[in-house]
Amino acid sequence: MRLEFLENGPIRVDGRRFVVRVGEKEEVLERPRVFLCRCGGSANKPFCDGTHKRIGFQASGGTLEVEGD
Ligand code: FES
Repeated sequence: MRLEFLENGPIRVDGRRFVVRVGEKEEVLERPRVFLCRCGGSANKPFCDGTHKRIGFQASGGTLEVEGD
């Protein structure tokens, strides 16, 4: 798995099927990628809703590779 930290923005995760569990709620998403909030300002956590632009969030870009299981 590869995570991409977008400069001044969210974390992009590529995949096909995501199982999101927040509290008691579980949701399955069939899509090629998701964008996770890392600014803390999203009203739709854990997903980015674009708030990072409005609040001027700043962070370096980068990647994280997860190898093995
Ligand atoms: S990173 Fe986009 S709303 Fe937080």
